[in-house]
Amino acid sequence: MCGIVGYVGPRPVQPLLIGGLRRLEYRGYDSAGMAILEEVGVEITRKAGRVADLESELEGRISNGTTGIGHTRWATHGAPNTTNAHPHADCAGSVAVVHNGIIENWADLKADLIEAGHLFRSETDTEVVAHLIEDRADLPLDEAVREAMRLAEGALALAVVRNDEPELIVGARRGSPLVIGLGDGENFLASDIPAFLEYTRRMAVLDDDRIVAVRPGGITISDLSGTIVEPVTREIEWDLDSAEKGGFPDFMLKEIFEQPKAIRDTLRGRLDSDGLVRLLELELDVEIARSFDKVFVVACGTSFHAAMMAKYAIERWTRLPVEIDIASEFRYRDPILDGNTLVVGISQSGETLDTLAAVRYARAQGAKLIAVTNVVDSAMAREADAVLYTRAGPEIGVAATKTFTTQLIAMQLLALWLAHARGSLDDAVIQNAVKAMFALPDQVEEVLRQSDGIREMSEQWTDRRDFFFLGRSAAFPVAMEGALKLKEIAYLRAEGYPAGEMKHGPIALIEEGVVVIGVATNSHVKGKMLSNMQEMRARSGTILLVLTEGDTEGEAVADEVIFVPWAPELLSPVTAVVPLQLLAYWLAKQRGLDVDKPRNLAKTVTVE
Ligand code: F6R
Repeated sequence: MCGIVGYVGPRPVQPLLIGGLRRLEYRGYDSAGMAILEEVGVEITRKAGRVADLESELEGRISNGTTGIGHTRWATHGAPNTTNAHPHADCAGSVAVVHNGIIENWADLKADLIEAGHLFRSETDTEVVAHLIEDRADLPLDEAVREAMRLAEGALALAVVRNDEPELIVGARRGSPLVIGLGDGENFLASDIPAFLEYTRRMAVLDDDRIVAVRPGGITISDLSGTIVEPVTREIEWDLDSAEKGGFPDFMLKEIFEQPKAIRDTLRGRLDSDGLVRLLELELDVEIARSFDKVFVVACGTSFHAAMMAKYAIERWTRLPVEIDIASEFRYRDPILDGNTLVVGISQSGETLDTLAAVRYARAQGAKLIAVTNVVDSAMAREADAVLYTRAGPEIGVAATKTFTTQLIAMQLLALWLAHARGSLDDAVIQNAVKAMFALPDQVEEVLRQSDGIREMSEQWTDRRDFFFLGRSAAFPVAMEGALKLKEIAYLRAEGYPAGEMKHGPIALIEEGVVVIGVATNSHVKGKMLSNMQEMRARSGTILLVLTEGDTEGEAVADEVIFVPWAPELLSPVTAVVPLQLLAYWLAKQRGLDVDKPRNLAKTVTVE
């Protein structure tokens, strides 16, 4: 996720771009930059850090330019430094490009361009676009961008300016958002509406595989074959605050609804032509992968629940023994580690002190470290022998939602990659698992459509104070995560427990008024899980079950049910956790709480 803004018109563009970038900073804040068409040509200014750092860099430089593009970056390829900050230029410095998304075949394109004599200055995938356009200098800019779009695979939203067309921005879109703001004698291009809402309420959406030429007097939209497409325009009714949240009342709900896209981004480009997992950025030798005889996964909070699920996947698929540790406990128990141990640290932020201390300890004992994190070049990414990014985009709400589901996917990809490297799974099994993963974004979409139903269901429980979340096998971490969400944003007592363990004590707490939520999706122990839920029902608990669509046997045990689409057992946590996120969200809202900033919590915990 990055933010793009562009403007053509009569006004000085520099302050306008800064204002737009500030409004888009929620999309990423690793670096910011802009390109303005001055009389001398394209002038690019970039700076690592926030938009405020770019402003300091620009201090004292007043531009008269009235056409320009800006970018705020959430790093996906290359460290978040000034060199990798957008805009990127071609060799001659006459083209400037900003990009949001991932160009999957950038490595192949880059190799061809280097062979043709192009000089690359950054580690980004974006820079290939600038050079592809440079190679087409004889074409009008929109034609050159169209050809670049035909060559580039993956998700991209682009905005491009070129020296010889001073009153033109060309935008292009596939997968990543891009909207056009329509003014009077001026026009805008942006990743999101807040960037231009101050100036106009009239907008046009750019569909996938469309190119737009934006000039002060109007816009022209065309498709990849060059056929002109009539723009569909509409009036924006949102105020600025709801526009920043994409029309959602808070970031948490927005992020819950972003999960289908986040999962698609996590999977993007991570498959080879045989349908097997390809983790190019992992840069871990297959021989090293074969040398492991034990795996530890360390993490905190929600990330620990992803670690719990990862244990099932890695053990089942690689037959390597896996230990999971809450990071703050790990190094104080003197774990047995050596050069054949793989340690995987999972951390959304990559900055959690407990997890950092744990992985540093492991490395000091000679273990190999893979970091699974959402933040490029975070402290944990820098510590690691190899990194797997979750690519969920920035998460603003304190409660982890989309970063959890993408951690689940990343860990499954890692488990399948290890299994392939070690020869512990047939290719056909891997291909089937991968196929099921690719169905997940649509399945999550289906679950999200039940949000209103879940809100209505939760209304009957506004006076309840005691909740149990139960699961078995891979559904147990889901239960733990459901309970954590309810505790942290709704401030309700919620216990996550393995369903089979209830009879050894906690069942004494079940009585009328206690809500017992069971995750009983597809599993080899589903029958046992339903028996455990019968035991809760017999003690007068109110039973809500998360079930696979069509499960009438489960339905008979429950007072309320939420159905999710069928998925293989190890993938079902991804769909099963979504209704629990929604349940916690709606219960918190009914209690009038600020879900984005729950009391006593911080997004990143940098104390021990
Ligand atoms: C819960 C939550 C926390 C974090 C934990 C670890 O919603 O957000 O429990 O999961 O603080 O943070 P990271 O993943 O950044 O290491």
